Amino acid sequence: MKLGLFDLRPLLASTLQWEAMSGLEDLERRVHACEACALVKKRTNAVPGEGSPTADLMFVGEGPGFYEDRDGRPFVGPAGRFLEELLASIGLTRSDVYITNMVKCRPPNNRDPLPGEIEACRPFLDEQMETISPKVIVTLGRYSLEKFFPGELISRAHGSPRPWMNMTLYPIYHPAAALHNPKLRPTIMDDFSRLPSLVESATGRDTGPAAVTEETRQLDLFE
Ligand code: URA
Repeated sequence: MKLGLFDLRPLLASTLQWEAMSGLEDLERRVHACEACALVKKRTNAVPGEGSPTADLMFVGEGPGFYEDRDGRPFVGPAGRFLEELLASIGLTRSDVYITNMVKCRPPNNRDPLPGEIEACRPFLDEQMETISPKVIVTLGRYSLEKFFPGELISRAHGSPRPWMNMTLYPIYHPAAALHNPKLRPTIMDDFSRLPSLVESATGRDTGPAAVTEETRQLDLFE
């Protein structure tokens, strides 16, 4: 039976948004209380992630640095300023997307995260992906590429979208890499410029039953 009198979609969309928001708030509390690896000993603040709870586009970096550890927010240092510039180049702001990291606590002296630290933090990232259900996940740099496509080189993989589960995975260089090596700047800007069309096609595409989102499932309940 169709409920023809009212268009319930705005109501459902806001219900889903509310559910995702409260799911993420709960996750944030657990990240702040987490002691699953040794990074807890040196951290000032855990950095769960931030942005739209129903974002189509999710960015996954490596781990918090000095500024992120200080403020408890992802990508607020120099790499974050460049990420904001890249977002602005495609007409977006931080609040349009969701930004997080492989590990939620700063590795001391910005060293690379260890496999055990990545593994300890994995359930949080998996839960964020499940809750937000983005259409496109942008991996920033080699560590987040490794999660989805182990053993692949970022120098080869960047700029090539590929299907993963019911999403599109899009690896690009880490913004910090372009700050260290300015020759990478045009490459990362070019890769970024393809994002709007990727999101558009990911949003519109029919990828079969596995791609049925919570929103379509909820809408189906009224048919
Ligand atoms: N680099 C990252 O990978 N993540 C941040 O949050 C900041 C810098």
